[in-house]
Amino acid sequence: MSPSWTKLFNFCITVLITTPLVRTLDVQTLPEVEGLRLGSATLKCSYEEPEDDAQHISKVWTMISEVTGDVEAVFSQIDNKNGEAFGRYAGRVTLTGPHADITISRLELVDSGMFQCAIDFYIARESGHGETLMKVYTVVEDVDIVDHGRGQEYMVKPGVEHELQCKALRGRPAAKLNWYLGDTFYGQGEETIVENEAEATYNTYSSYLATFSENDNGKIMKCQSNQEPEIASQHVSDYVTINTSGSAVLEGRTWHILCSILISSILWKFR
Ligand SMILES: *[C@@H]1O[C@H](CO)[C@@H](O)[C@H](O)[C@H]1NC(C)=O
Repeated sequence: MSPSWTKLFNFCITVLITTPLVRTLDVQTLPEVEGLRLGSATLKCSYEEPEDDAQHISKVWTMISEVTGDVEAVFSQIDNKNGEAFGRYAGRVTLTGPHADITISRLELVDSGMFQCAIDFYIARESGHGETLMKVYTVVEDVDIVDHGRGQEYMVKPGVEHELQCKALRGRPAAKLNWYLGDTFYGQGEETIVENEAEATYNTYSSYLATFSENDNGKIMKCQSNQEPEIASQHVSDYVTINTSGSAVLEGRTWHILCSILISSILWKFR
């Protein structure tokens, strides 16, 4: 080896020997946290401090939004000085607890995603990270039986199939719509779900084919939203009042009378 190569080789060996290896720090985070839009959520992040140089530490929170796919800086703090929140998180993040727990307020749906808490004791040479999946939900804004005011009478012909339509707007996750006649679960209609991409919400449309009998007169037909996560399990509904009398004129005996009149008038003609 030439002298310069020997020097470089010796230098590298020296660096290798004098550099203590970075040890992996066990950073503990929750697997999953749920929050409601405009609410708040706490993301836990804890670790065991090294014996020396525990004051030389960097705490960095980042996230990948499930909605936009972007990687975003959330919060950082160096050597326990004042922390700083970045971008969309400015003014919404505070460090809570003795380690690196953060509380995010005024949650937005785009905050849904994978958060990472990275801890580096850069003098003590111990570093590690942990992840938390954050899910932000919103209860549907409105549930509406199309073309009918709340509680309005819904005129039906007994024994004839009627189509009822209902929509639930701007929920996350997408709502399911259930139909009830009185207190009886009537079923789920044919559902269509449409995503509002810009705001990360879903509209649900349900069409239900129902046949009523005279007994249903005055009963309430209800369309009610159902969202799975417990935190957003508030039901929103709309209803109509079934009225079977409006068109009863054309039922049963009435048909019989009309036919009799028709037949007798024809017979009269050919007399
Ligand atoms: C149904 O409609 C008829 C005719 O409009 C009305 O007279 C009756 O009171 C209604 N019945 C109920 C149960 O609302």
